[in-house]
Amino acid sequence: MNISHISRRAVIAAAAALAMPVAMAQAPAKLKVGFMLPATGTFAALGTAIENGFKLYLTEKGGKLGGREVEFVKVDDESDPSKAIDNVNKLIKRDNVDVLVGSVHSGVAMAMAKVAKESGTLMINPNGGADAVTGAMCAVNIFRSSFSNWQPGFAIGQAMAAKGHKTAATITWKYAAGDEMAKGFKEGFEKAGGKVTKELTLPFPNVEFQAQLTEIAAAKPNAVFSFFAGGGAVKFVKDYDGAGLKKTIPLFGTGFLTDGTLEAQGASAEGVLTALHYADGLNTPRDNAFRLAYVKAFKMQPDVYAVQGYDAAQMLGIGLDAVKGDAKNTAGFAAAVTKATIDSPRGKFTISKAHNPIQDFYLRQVSGKENKVVGIASKALADPARGCNM
Ligand code: PHB
Repeated sequence: MNISHISRRAVIAAAAALAMPVAMAQAPAKLKVGFMLPATGTFAALGTAIENGFKLYLTEKGGKLGGREVEFVKVDDESDPSKAIDNVNKLIKRDNVDVLVGSVHSGVAMAMAKVAKESGTLMINPNGGADAVTGAMCAVNIFRSSFSNWQPGFAIGQAMAAKGHKTAATITWKYAAGDEMAKGFKEGFEKAGGKVTKELTLPFPNVEFQAQLTEIAAAKPNAVFSFFAGGGAVKFVKDYDGAGLKKTIPLFGTGFLTDGTLEAQGASAEGVLTALHYADGLNTPRDNAFRLAYVKAFKMQPDVYAVQGYDAAQMLGIGLDAVKGDAKNTAGFAAAVTKATIDSPRGKFTISKAHNPIQDFYLRQVSGKENKVVGIASKALADPARGCNM
C-alpha cells in the first residue's frame, strides 16, 4: 500500500467523520457555455472575433469563471433566424448548457432571447442589437455586452446634424438591425434639426447596391447614413466610392460599416465618419494592454466584436463570482452585474436596469487603416428600453 493511497483514504475517512459529503472536496462541475455564433456567411469574421475576445478574457482569468472551469459547445447559426429556435433548443435541451452566448444577427438574437426567457437560461448577447432584447423582451436572465441598435444610430444622427447637414438619405438591409439603426438615426438627426428625405433598403444579406446608389445620386441629399457590416460593408463602401458618390455626398454610418473591414475596403473608406462604442487609437493603458494581448494570441487586430466578446466573458465572471458559480441564481447574478462598473477596453461602462450597456459613443473618422477618434458623438448614452418593465 503506498502513501498516496493511505492519505486519500484518510481524507475520505475524515470527511465522513465530519459528515461532509466527499463530493464537496472535488472541483465544481465545469461551466458549460453554449456559443451560438455565425461561422459562415457575411458575419463569419464577426463570430470569430467574439469568440477570440471571450477566450482571451478567460485565459487571463486562468481558464475559470465564477470558480468553475469552462467547457464550450458551439453551433454555427449561419445568421439565419429561421434556424435559430431549433439551434438554441439543442443547446439548452440536448447539451444542457449553463449559459448561452450569442448572437451577431438581431433576428437570431431575438429568437435566443425568446427561448432564454421561457426557459430561464442565463444569456449574454455579445452583439445582436435588436432593441427588443433589452426592451420588450427584457428579463432578469438576459444581458447584453454590446449595444442596442437605437444607440449608435441615434449618436451618428446627432453628429451628422452637428456637421451642418440638413437632409439625409438612409440605406441599409431590411431587417431588425437595419430598420432600428435607421430609426435611431432619424430620431437623432431630426431632433437636431435635420430631415430624412429618402429611406432605402435591400434584403439581408444582398450586396447588389446599384439600383439604390442610382436613387441616391438622383435624390442629392446632403449626406447618407448607412448600416452594413462584415462582408456586406466591405462591398457597400467600395461600391459607394466606385459610383463616384463619395466626393459629393459624404458617407456616414454606425461604426460597423468600417470596423474590422478597413483592410479590405482600402482607400474607398478614407474619411468616412461613424459612431461606435469603440475606436482605434484610444490609447488608454487598458485598451493598449488588451490590443497587445489580442494581437499576440490571434495574430490579428481586435475590433468592436472582439471587445464585446471579451466583455461578455467579463460580465459573466463578475456575475458568477457573486453567486459562487451558480448560473441558475439569475437574480443574484443580475444584482451584481447591474451594480458593477465594467472595466472594458472601450472605456468603463455600466449596465442599465434593462441590462444594456450605458456607454460613450465615439465619433470616428477613417484615416488609413484606422477608425480614429475625432470626438464624442454621445456621452454615457442609455437606450430608452422602450417596453421593458423590469
Ligand atoms: C445585428 O444584426 O444586430 C448586427 C449585425 C452586425 C453588426 C451589428 C448589428 O455589425
